[in-house]
Amino acid sequence: LSRGMARWVREEGLGLDVCSAGELELAVTAGFPSERVVLHGNAKSPRDLETALRLGVGRIVIDGPSEIARIAAAVAPGERQKVMVRVVPGVSAGGHDKIRTGTDGQKFGLSPTDGSAQHALARILDQPGLELTGLHCHIGSQITEVKPYLVALRRMVGLMARVRDAHGVVLPELDMGGGHGIAYRPGEPSLDLTALARRLRAELVEGCAAARLTVPRLAVEPGRAVVGPAGIALYRVLAVKDTGGKVFVAVDGGMGDNPRPALYGARYAPRLVGRRSTAGIRAVTVVGRHCEAGDVLAADTE
Ligand SMILES: Cc1ncc(COP(=O)(O)O)c(C=O)c1O
Repeated sequence: LSRGMARWVREEGLGLDVCSAGELELAVTAGFPSERVVLHGNAKSPRDLETALRLGVGRIVIDGPSEIARIAAAVAPGERQKVMVRVVPGVSAGGHDKIRTGTDGQKFGLSPTDGSAQHALARILDQPGLELTGLHCHIGSQITEVKPYLVALRRMVGLMARVRDAHGVVLPELDMGGGHGIAYRPGEPSLDLTALARRLRAELVEGCAAARLTVPRLAVEPGRAVVGPAGIALYRVLAVKDTGGKVFVAVDGGMGDNPRPALYGARYAPRLVGRRSTAGIRAVTVVGRHCEAGDVLAADTE
């Protein structure tokens, strides 16, 4: 996040996700309205929560049971903090195991399967300093099909109906997170956003009618789908080495600015820019300058 990005997001009328006190302070000092900010994170520090309350963040997404008492205790007497609960809907989706966050057995959210989501919801509703506005989920990243979102949405509506039945509370908001897949290389699939919008909304209206629920305000968090297609990473080549039957092109960056290839094999299509070359096309491996042999940005690429 940068001040320029926060300004663009504000001008577009969007909300903003942050996951630290630093990001929140940056956004607010760049003039971003704090009520349009959502604070996420599975490990919020005391400073994250103190800053969120002090600056009047719009929503805090509760990711674990210990946050409930911590936030409730920090809210000033007579005031109320809007919160949502991150739910694990039991949907496996996403481009790689390491970016799938919709099932049990990973670190994010609270599961309805073992009852921890319901337990947290009941505790939050008991806290006078907390205003539960709705449920949140984020099932993963680089999802290129609409179907997993529809399955997740049905389960979220089911849980909203159970909250209504158990507590008599109709939640006014539903946040379906992000994960909208984009193409990083020519020919790769991306998520059809128009189809997602149409089918998600239709499924929500239908599901709420069947459960006799008021249709909640629907939010999505399209992270990379907004910025990814608009951006490139620009590096300078520092060294070229022909060794062990491979050509290594080393650049002035690497896993420090982009850990995705090293973490889960993300692939890119590097291009030479800024000058023409008369050399023929050849296969090379683009590596970074960090002190790890695994600091590879693009293996065996042209
Ligand atoms: C809560 C939440 N919302 C939205 C996103 C954005 O997803 P993506 O980076 O796949 O666009 C993320 C990414 O991790 C997230 O954790």
